[in-house]
Amino acid sequence: MKQELERVEQEALEAIKGVSDPTGVKTLKARYVGRKGVVTALLRKISGLPPEERPETGRLANELKKRLEKAFEKALQAFEADRGELMADALDVTLPGRPLARGRMHPITQMTKAICEVFQRLGFEIVEGPDVEWDYYNFEALNIPRDHPARDMHDTFYISENIVLRTHTSPIQIRVMESQSPPVRIIAPGKSYRVDSDISHTPMFFQVEGLMVQENISFGDLKGVLTTFAHQIFDEETSLRFRPSFFPFTEPSAEIDIRCVICRGAGCRVCSHTGWLEVLGAGMVHPAVFEMVGYDTDRYTGFAFGMGIERIAMLKYGIEDIRKFYENDLRFLEQF
Ligand code: PHE
Repeated sequence: MKQELERVEQEALEAIKGVSDPTGVKTLKARYVGRKGVVTALLRKISGLPPEERPETGRLANELKKRLEKAFEKALQAFEADRGELMADALDVTLPGRPLARGRMHPITQMTKAICEVFQRLGFEIVEGPDVEWDYYNFEALNIPRDHPARDMHDTFYISENIVLRTHTSPIQIRVMESQSPPVRIIAPGKSYRVDSDISHTPMFFQVEGLMVQENISFGDLKGVLTTFAHQIFDEETSLRFRPSFFPFTEPSAEIDIRCVICRGAGCRVCSHTGWLEVLGAGMVHPAVFEMVGYDTDRYTGFAFGMGIERIAMLKYGIEDIRKFYENDLRFLEQF
């Protein structure tokens, strides 16, 4: 019996070493010290031993049972400790992820796209020209000679005597007409530069130029195209007002206002209580300009228009300070 007890102990301790999870320990525990376990069975057999052997064997068997119970408990605790460590290191897959900072198009880029798309649907083609421009294209070919007072309208950045940062996108008209004959139907977005900086001016700003030339183009076509533009960029209720104006390269010329998109004409701070907002310059292409590019002034007529993109975006989104567009404040830019 004594030997039997020793053998059982050896076997049980050996078995514990080979166990790889808490369930394994529990199975072993049942097998040895459970109600139907090996050790329990041995304890029952003690009553069948000769009386003088009973106390000693009983003591040994009970001590063995206790040692094994302790060993099983220790093994279980070891697994628990491992588990705790794993839990501490664990990746909590229920935590919300860290969001990636997503880029987006600058509001002025978005507005430029939107404006160009309106005109593309009307059959206009997008063209571009250089920011650094010859005096000739920026002024002279547009009927603004060197000593012309209209030059005062543009506070020009001069690179040299004959080279400027373009003050508007109108030089693109000249470049296009020089290189192709009518019909012409172009929309030309791009940066423009003027020595000017306040709440409604930045030294660099964006314009979109439009030009349409072919036989029988009238002021009515200009009105129709610009009305479509206003309806698509703002809404169908947006009405236009044409006021006589002056540009050296168009005759007649007009400044075009839209019904205030904020107050609908009732009068508010944005429209200075006039009910109208100035958004565009336009007119019929001046014959002197056609002559510069060699177009037949008896055969062709055309209209041109130009607008500031920031201004359209400011009206559309109710922004009061143009400089916000160029401060690179993400809190501002992320709203578009
Ligand atoms: N280029 C003019 C400006 O910058 C706008 C304009 C374009 C006016 C075309 C008439 C025709 O003020």
